Amino acid sequence: MAADPTADNRPQVCGRELLQWRREQLKAGGTPAELNWLLEFQGGLPWRELQALHLQPERSVPLRVPLEEMAALWQRHRRQQEPLQYLVGCCPWRDLELQVAPGVLIPRQETELLVDLAEEIARAQGRTPQLWADLGTGSGCLALALAQAWPASRGIAVDLSPEALSQAQANLRSQGRLPQVELRQGDWWTPLRQQWGSLELVVANPPYIPDPIWQELDPVVRDHEPRLALSSGSDGLNAIRVIAAGAAEALAAEGWLLLEHHHDQSAAVQQLLLTAGLVEVEAYSDLEGHARFAVARRRSDR
Ligand SMILES: C[S@@+](CC[C@H](N)C(=O)[O-])C[C@H]1O[C@@H](n2cnc3c(N)ncnc32)[C@H](O)[C@@H]1O
Repeated sequence: MAADPTADNRPQVCGRELLQWRREQLKAGGTPAELNWLLEFQGGLPWRELQALHLQPERSVPLRVPLEEMAALWQRHRRQQEPLQYLVGCCPWRDLELQVAPGVLIPRQETELLVDLAEEIARAQGRTPQLWADLGTGSGCLALALAQAWPASRGIAVDLSPEALSQAQANLRSQGRLPQVELRQGDWWTPLRQQWGSLELVVANPPYIPDPIWQELDPVVRDHEPRLALSSGSDGLNAIRVIAAGAAEALAAEGWLLLEHHHDQSAAVQQLLLTAGLVEVEAYSDLEGHARFAVARRRSDR
């Protein structure tokens, strides 16, 4: 790459050279969207600027890392199916740039909707929960978003995986949210025993992939993301069964439970929530119109 230091000391690369490099990389496979993602999050070249280069290839743009370095990551991604987010170490999610590493689930876009649902509930109630929990926090994405949405609240984020908890801790710390969100290791409701009966809102994106489907997952997911975060028994409902069964005791009276689940589990999850004695059970869809979320509430004590 032609290094041409600029005022901000980042090496510049000519548009024509960059576009040629991009064509070369894509010959090895992969999608333009993935390569653009790498250019943006490793190279620091926003998608808009990349598009502008197609019109003005004679322009030069600054890059955070040399093209050779990005080519090496791209090859690893292509040959070993390693997720780009792990290779780069970050994942944009809502308005956050989260750190991610192998051993911790890469946050998915659809999960962003759980935060919208939680905020909608709080708005409709006219008050924000004072004490909430995030079960199976992974990278800490949901806990962090709720802590930002409700700065005067207190949250508890639970995970069985020590890798997940240390990643969540790093993400919460980098956003200054550690004092507000406590991290606890353990199995679903168990680490929250002291708070049973006082949790006003609980979110969970638990593992829900049925074991038989696990085998069919894209290798980029199956061979690299933690199975503990994804699969949950023959029908994918093992974790949701435990969460639903404990909710009536763990939630505060009139407290809310918000769950993400697989696209074909809506009826089964609603039934589990009703069987557990919860009320106001409702399904919500993702942006593609698939019912992917369930909301339920503990009865009032009155
Ligand atoms: C689908 S991931 C969700 C991670 C994160 N909340 C997100 O939305 O990206 C499920 C998480 O549940 C955790 N988990 C699995 N079994 C658990 C258990 N028995 N108790 C607590 N957490 C568990 C996994 O380690 C993983 O971090």
